[in-house]
Amino acid sequence: MSARGIARAAFAAALLGAAIAPAGFAGSQVTASKAALSTVSPYATQAGLSVLKRGGNAIDAAVTVSFALAVAHPQAGNIGGGGFLVYYEAKSGSVWTLDFREVAPAAAKRDMYLQPDGTISVNSQTGPLAAGVPGTVAGLDAMHRKFGTRPWKELVQPAIALARDGVATDARLERDLNSARSKRKIDQFPSTAALFFPKGKALPANSRLLQNDLAATLTSIADSGAHEFYAGSLAGRIVAAVQQAGGNLSHRDLSEYAPTWRAPIRVTFRDCDIYMMPPPSSGGLLIGEVLNILNSYDLAAAGFQTAKSLHLVAEAERRAYIDRNKYLGDPATARIPYRELLSDTRAVAWRNTMNGERATPTISLAEPGSTPAVEPDHTTHFTIADAEGNVVALTTTLNDDFGSGFVVPGLGFLLNDEMDDFTPAPGKPNRYGLLQGTVNAIEPHKKMASSMSPTIVLRKGKPYLALGTRGGPTIPTTVLQVLLNVVVYGKPLDEAIAAPRYHHQATPDQIDYESSAPRRTVDALNAMGHSVVQRDDIGDVHALMFAAGKIIAVADPRDGGAAGGY
Ligand code: GLY
Repeated sequence: MSARGIARAAFAAALLGAAIAPAGFAGSQVTASKAALSTVSPYATQAGLSVLKRGGNAIDAAVTVSFALAVAHPQAGNIGGGGFLVYYEAKSGSVWTLDFREVAPAAAKRDMYLQPDGTISVNSQTGPLAAGVPGTVAGLDAMHRKFGTRPWKELVQPAIALARDGVATDARLERDLNSARSKRKIDQFPSTAALFFPKGKALPANSRLLQNDLAATLTSIADSGAHEFYAGSLAGRIVAAVQQAGGNLSHRDLSEYAPTWRAPIRVTFRDCDIYMMPPPSSGGLLIGEVLNILNSYDLAAAGFQTAKSLHLVAEAERRAYIDRNKYLGDPATARIPYRELLSDTRAVAWRNTMNGERATPTISLAEPGSTPAVEPDHTTHFTIADAEGNVVALTTTLNDDFGSGFVVPGLGFLLNDEMDDFTPAPGKPNRYGLLQGTVNAIEPHKKMASSMSPTIVLRKGKPYLALGTRGGPTIPTTVLQVLLNVVVYGKPLDEAIAAPRYHHQATPDQIDYESSAPRRTVDALNAMGHSVVQRDDIGDVHALMFAAGKIIAVADPRDGGAAGGY
């Protein structure tokens, strides 16, 4: 583990020691014999671990962890956003996926953010007009109804206590609040500033974040169920507060929201069956396409993170991203060519355009791209295994850190800015530099394309790996790299996660790399014709590996989350 990771793990341990019982923790890596989990927040990990120890299953723990993250990790944990679940059910040996992605409100319009001068309004990212209809509470309710075993009310309770009694803030929250983008957003909304900028300054590390309004909202959800959020008196208050602030969410938008169980994307690579989210996530198809392209290269012989192997991976990513930008959207409104994209024919066709020694300019394969915006940190992932062998991989988001920056007044929760994941002006890149076509244009009731990639890997029909990460368009490439590090290079999970990360998304035509990447490797990639750009940490993986009857849980040292188990 890096010095930074050790410092963060020590902080987490100190926090747990001071604020809540530290049972079951050993920093950011744990080897457990019965059940284990990894989340970005020591509070959420502790809450989920107690559910598991009391005999709750992985879905029960996921409900508790999700609500706890909405309190303790307001950057991305949420009840005002959405997400995806991939779930391995031990009893049937089957893998399920639940899509609780937000949808565009009925009042949404294709050009709603396009200004007369052709620029995109800040309303696609800031304030209530940026919000899709939240799916999280309905999603947690749906997974709990189908697979949960403990009473709903009991599972929401830990989050209520955290909101009411307060959580100790950490340096990461302080840093994230102080980012120019978060500050600009939060400053505009007194309901948000009152929580996170009391006395006009971002909450410093080691202070206490008290959220009484959120505690009351969670209590209504605990007592009256998800229905309260979508069609009860809470729904009425949400709609009134959002509309008063200029948003377009209606009663009908909330009452009609429904999560969707979908068939997973399954791809076989080496001796592994990899289960991932289908559209509206691009993750499954994108990772699957990259793996299919790479399948016939001898990556092991090319060497672990050599320029040669990184070049092949980047070139495969470039091509899969070209397809993503062309084809990915809501499967309810577009024909998505699943079979074609994952076919051998497609992999062979793309391989035929690749040169093992030289970068292929994206412009020679697809439409030209343009300058990207700076990639923010956002979204969060957690992974849980229970004593019965069930496994949860769940990624959840408000889109940007702190979502739209708008805390619903009187109700204490942040609304997402997921509308910015649509193509606000087809043909132009969104804020992550992703150039998207009309397939992802805004339409009422439609879901925006996502990169979130919760993933479960089976080997001989049994769980072998479960993982996911934050990081916008770097999510699929981060999951992919950890998979390759374990499956191709046989790295232990902590090393696979700690290894330097690289990322290519076709547009912009460059390899992003972390500062830990060796200079000589970066120079060699550059000499092969790649533009190379150093950036901050890429992703924050929370993963489990199943080996020799044990479960290894790892929280990425990049964000200093907490692994737990027993
Ligand atoms: N908003 C991030 C994602 O869905 O990929």
